[in-house]
Amino acid sequence: MSQLQFQAIIYEKKNNVAWITLNRPDKLNAQNAQMRAELIQALQDAAKDDNVRVIVITGAGRAFSAGADISEFPVLTPADLVKRAELIRPYELIRSIPKPVIAAVNGLALGGGCELALACDIVIASEDAQFGQPEVRVGVIPGGGGTQVLPRLVGEKIAKEMIFTGKFISAQEAHRLGMVNRVVPKEKLMEEVNNLVNELLKQSPIILAFAKMAINRALETTLSEGMRVEADLFRLCFSTEDQKELSKAFLEKRSPVVKGR
Ligand code: COA
Repeated sequence: MSQLQFQAIIYEKKNNVAWITLNRPDKLNAQNAQMRAELIQALQDAAKDDNVRVIVITGAGRAFSAGADISEFPVLTPADLVKRAELIRPYELIRSIPKPVIAAVNGLALGGGCELALACDIVIASEDAQFGQPEVRVGVIPGGGGTQVLPRLVGEKIAKEMIFTGKFISAQEAHRLGMVNRVVPKEKLMEEVNNLVNELLKQSPIILAFAKMAINRALETTLSEGMRVEADLFRLCFSTEDQKELSKAFLEKRSPVVKGR
């Protein structure tokens, strides 16, 4: 798949990393039907490509994404939304891809943009980024997980205030609330993301996949069920070549060679 097939995003794969750049900068990367379809296509490709071990999503220009493309709203019908079947697809896909997905939030992350960032496993934000769920201002509620994911992350009260008022919060505030892993100067964003990518590439992809599955379950199930899932996945680690190699390398005081098996 080449990036030429896409119009609303840029999709590049290099050195085991898939880079997805939302690319409608003049519209602050508002997500129209085409962008969402392309985003899903790119995520599906990155998911199945064994050479891709980490996925990064970012935005071109001054926004990560200002959310759903409101210009589609006046004529959009419930049937259109059913036909597209795309509302929670990016969230479900990102959660289900057994690889780390990083959001490099380079600016505004609003509505579906905020939801997309929060669907990612790790969020690095530039210091001028802002987050918000302003959907009520245009007559809808968040439709990509905002009402479900945000309260789990920041608590009911903060989520309700953000969603009821639609007010934006700064990257620093988002960090304080636990929505963001780190806030870095704008010019350092990609350097920081690359450092993180390199850290992740050193790990065994299969073990990271188990870790991601286990943590995802923590947010979806009871504690006792989650503990059982963790125990199953913990045991499964011992069936991998990487677990043997990593533990032996530690004991032999040498660098490990991980194979993702
Ligand atoms: N959908 C469609 N177009 C959007 C958009 C969106 N969600 N967000 C921004 N744009 C467009 C603007 O219409 C404008 O297009 P134009 O130049 O053709 O007029 C362009 O992007 C730049 O946005 P602009 O509003 O001029 O920038 P700003 O810096 O003054 O304001 C925002 C930035 C984010 C505060 C403002 O664009 C905004 O409130 N956007 C909507 C955010 C939102 O409600 N998202 C949730 C949707 S459910």
